[in-house]
Amino acid sequence: MTNNDALKRPLRDLRISVTDRCNFRCRYCMPREIFGPDHHFLSRRELLTFEEITRLAKIFHTLGVRKIRLTGGEPLLRKDLEVLVRMLATAMPKVDLALTTNGSLLAKKARALKDAGLDRVTISLDALDDNIFRAMTDTDISVEDVLTSICAAEEVGLTPIKINMVVKRGVNEGEILPMARYFRGTGHILRFIEFMDVGSTNQWENEDVVPAREIIETIHREFPLEPLEANYHGEVANRWQYRDGAGEIGLITSVTQPFCGDCTRIRLSAVGELFTCLFASSGQDVRELLRGGATDAELTAFIRALWSHRADRYSELRQEKHQYRQEKVEMSYIGG
Ligand code: GTP
Ligand code: 5AD
Ligand code: SF4
Ligand code: SF4
Repeated sequence: MTNNDALKRPLRDLRISVTDRCNFRCRYCMPREIFGPDHHFLSRRELLTFEEITRLAKIFHTLGVRKIRLTGGEPLLRKDLEVLVRMLATAMPKVDLALTTNGSLLAKKARALKDAGLDRVTISLDALDDNIFRAMTDTDISVEDVLTSICAAEEVGLTPIKINMVVKRGVNEGEILPMARYFRGTGHILRFIEFMDVGSTNQWENEDVVPAREIIETIHREFPLEPLEANYHGEVANRWQYRDGAGEIGLITSVTQPFCGDCTRIRLSAVGELFTCLFASSGQDVRELLRGGATDAELTAFIRALWSHRADRYSELRQEKHQYRQEKVEMSYIGG
């Protein structure tokens, strides 16, 4: 039986947020004036347990999920994350299991994560220059710390490593070329992400977006590029390769070229709500079902019904309707 949504999109990709906390305060994600000392974060008791997460993930697997990504906040702030990794990898050995992290705590954990069965990591890095890095991420962690984590991930084989760089007009656009130069030839895949209007606290303005087309042109002038085919149907990033064989880069064009038509992703928040779009206003609670004694068959039916009604296409609507706005959940809450 196929499990397509209302727009005929299958369910393939599950993103699991394991905590809403983060030790960074990226301006585009958790601005310090909102996520300050008074901000209410989730308490431990509210979070899904590793057993609950694994049980749900197995059900998603039976419904077609082939890729699982652990996110946050910063997922490595969740205690013993490698235990969850082992549970997921053991239960679903064929699933592609990845982690998105800011890299601050990865150097110490890389070996344990690999041994537990994690396949690969995506590490955020918005600049090589420490001052620009700080202007983007508002943290005391240094660029050097993140680069050390990238090396550690490479050493233990959490590859291919992807590096996510959010590009913001007037803040880090001058780092596009230095970053391209630095990661060319390393085997790591640098991805440039258009600054997005996720959540409602990051003061997003259209003028702050550097369109992917402009990023490509900037790099192409120094290092000629050519387009590559997608690795799989529905891949988020557009792929380009250096003509001289120094590897590939990716462009994530949610603002200028939305990719909702192929969106096969569902997100599970740390407290057990399901979100069928990154820009959704609210989620559907599954924790109550889990803790109320629902059977696997009941959970399966609930998720199947939720997915079959799904018609989300926020980024396309944003493009079609000028200044499209709605209440949106924060990205640190449901994960990237
Ligand atoms: P792989 O292809 O498995 O490596 O991962 P991916 O392309 O799904 O990449 P990743 O999960 O690292 O996503 C990269 C970034 O793209 C995220 O951090 C978000 O900023 C953005 N992104 C991912 N999924 C979506 C989505 O469904 N909608 C929008 N608008 N942006 C997304
Ligand atoms: N726009 C684009 N990307 C964002 N991310 C977080 N917030 C935004 C935003 N407003 C990215 C981070 C990280 C991933 C989890 O999502 O850089 O790589
Ligand atoms: Fe933390 Fe990632 Fe959000 Fe930055 S983008 S504040 S590292 S969760
Ligand atoms: Fe998917 Fe929503 Fe992103 Fe469109 S905006 S690609 S529907 S998550």
